[in-house]
Parts: sequence; C-alpha cells; structure tokens
Amino acid sequence: MGDGGFQMNVQATLLSAAILLLAGCRSEPQPMTTPSSDRAFGKTPEGVEVRLYTLRNAHGMRATITNFGGIVTSLVVPDRAGRPGDIVLGFDSLEGYLRGSPYFGAIVGRYANRIAGARFTLEGTSHRLAANDHGNALHGGVRGFDKVVWDAIPFADSTRSGLRLHQVSADGEEGYPGRLDVTVTYEVTDANELRITYHATTDKATVLNLSHHGYFNLAGRAAPDILGHELLLAADRYTPVDASLIPTGEIASVDGTPFDFRTATPIGDRIDADDRQLRYGKGYDHNFVVLGTPGTLRLAARVRDPESGRTMEVLTTEPGIQFYSGNFLDGTLVGKGGATYGHRAGLCLETQHFPDSPHHAAFPTTLLRPGQAFRSETIYRFAAQ
Ligand code: BGC
Repeated sequence: MGDGGFQMNVQATLLSAAILLLAGCRSEPQPMTTPSSDRAFGKTPEGVEVRLYTLRNAHGMRATITNFGGIVTSLVVPDRAGRPGDIVLGFDSLEGYLRGSPYFGAIVGRYANRIAGARFTLEGTSHRLAANDHGNALHGGVRGFDKVVWDAIPFADSTRSGLRLHQVSADGEEGYPGRLDVTVTYEVTDANELRITYHATTDKATVLNLSHHGYFNLAGRAAPDILGHELLLAADRYTPVDASLIPTGEIASVDGTPFDFRTATPIGDRIDADDRQLRYGKGYDHNFVVLGTPGTLRLAARVRDPESGRTMEVLTTEPGIQFYSGNFLDGTLVGKGGATYGHRAGLCLETQHFPDSPHHAAFPTTLLRPGQAFRSETIYRFAAQ
C-alpha cells in the first residue's frame, strides 16, 4: 500500500472515530438490540395479572419470559441455515403452567434441587420445610419461586435487552427462615447469550440455592428427544445419589463411568447402560462438580445438535451443574403447538450449589447471613455451525 492509501486510511479512521465520539455524546445510546415489548398473559387464580415480555437481539435471537415464576416460555435461536426455532419446552398459555408443569423454564428456589427429609438445622435451630418429593423438599417446596408473580421491569441499552424480576419472600415461606429480597435479571445480549444474574439478601441466617430450569431441545420442535445431542461437561467428578436422588455425600470420579462427558459424547450412547446411578435417575439426573473456581465465570457444559447445527454453551459462577435428561417426561404433557413431550424430550442443565448441601459439611456452603449478598451468574450462549 502506498503512502496515499495509508493517509486515506488514517483520515477514514479519524472520521469514524469522530462519528463514534459524536454518537457517544448523544443522550440516547443507539440501540443495537430491539427494546423489549410486553403483553398480557392472563391472570392467576387469585386474580393477579401476569405479563409476557419479549427480549430480542440484532441476530434473530428472542426470549419470551413471563413474570409468573420467571418462566422463559420460548427461546428462539437460528439454526445453521439461519432458520429460527424455539428450543425450549413449555406451554402456549398461562393455564398450562398453572395446571402443573415440571418446572419448565422457571426460576427455582429458595433451594433448587433436593433437601433430604425436608428439614435442616441451622445454628442450633431446626427448620421444617414443605415436603413435595417423597418426603424431601424439591425446588423450593409446594409454592416455590416458580409459582410466584414477580415484579418486572424491562430495560434495554446498546448491547442487551433485559428484564429485572424482583420479589420479597417472607420469613418462614415454605419453612425457610429469613425475609429474602431476591432479584433475578434476564438479558439477551448481542453475543447471542441468555444471561441470568441472581442477587439476594436476607435478614436472618438461611440457606439459598437458585437456578433456572429450562428444558432444551436444540432441534427446535423437529426432534422427539435429545438422545442425539452431543454433550460435554467440564467435570471430573459428580455427586452420586441414593434411590430417592439424595446425594450420598461421596464426590466420585467420572473416570470409566457413563458420567464421563469430558469429551463430547451423544447423550443416548450410555444412558441405558447397566449402572446403578443411571437406574436411580432413570437416566441422567445428577449434579456434576464444575471444574475451576466457584465464583468465577467458567465453562460448565457445551451441547450440540448435529442436525440443526445449534450449539449451546453454559457458563456459570456456581460450583455445580445438574444434568437432567428429562427422564420423567412420559408423553402425558401436551405443550406448545400441541407437541407431546415424550420421554427425554428435553434436557436441563441447572447451574447450582450441590443438592442437599445443608446436610453435607464437605459441600460448598449454601448459608447466607444478614449483611452478606448472594450473587450468581449463568450464561447460556448460542451459535450454529
Ligand atoms: C430434578 C429431577 C426432577 C426435575 C423436575 C430436576 O431438577 O433433578 O429429579 O424430576 O427437576 O422436577
């Protein structure tokens, strides 16, 4: 390139820098994302109005979220040919979710996953929780965070479109101590991410474990199950369970077991292997110990659907991730567009603290005290190849 070309480049660079500077000085940032929109989604049996918010980015990704349970009712992501597809299981109407949903797309809490015997002791006081799973507490109890109508504030700026959900859970709700102030923020970013951040404070010592319970099928509505999806889990170890899916306390190596997903492997390859842990879960329903340091955002899982080319990466600050292969889906639930959700129609990758941590001193603590702030972040990042 001659000197003239170089000078023209410099001029062009200066010009674009000046334009950027001017744009930066405007009071309103230029949105790259489309701001969120919202509409009515019905009323709860108590007559509380529930809304549906749609967050979009500039690349055709779209998340529709209701403030009932913080449920992601649809998540549209393009495939390798650019064709949009809804990659989460759910219902067309609020009634579907009210009638009984296996936590499709919901925020789960106060304690995601199980607490054995629905009781725990904290600082000498024993707490009795609502038991909703064979005598154990599952996903926060009878009326967990998946059934709460959250206050919702949509927002958008130059790189993301978001929804802030807030609620105060009363002291003693579902048996949990402490008045808990919780904010969960969903964002759809221009990096094709669904980003979820959690923040909570309490006025009494309590235990807390928050997660998102999306059921993914990256094929969109095209595939009846997720057995052909290839899964990578960034985990050398997992927490084996007993017959009621309560951790035994052991932290076991995945080496030489059907739980070794350190290299990407189709989910269906070993799911029916003759293995006691798989029999207990009726497939995969286990917590994996995410490699790296809890509190830092790092890769926990990567899933790929070879048919559509869609991939999903899961990054989290949490110590664990529950891989649940939709084993309890049995074809009795009719979902969006009349789809029947059969055995293993969707998979969950629930970032979390380990199940039943209040009974296992060796597990990372789930204790939250007054004056402390609970913070957690999980990103579901999409691409198509
Ligand atoms: C649990 C499963 C349970 C499912 C729906 C998952 O997080 O690990 O055992 O069936 O949620 O409740």
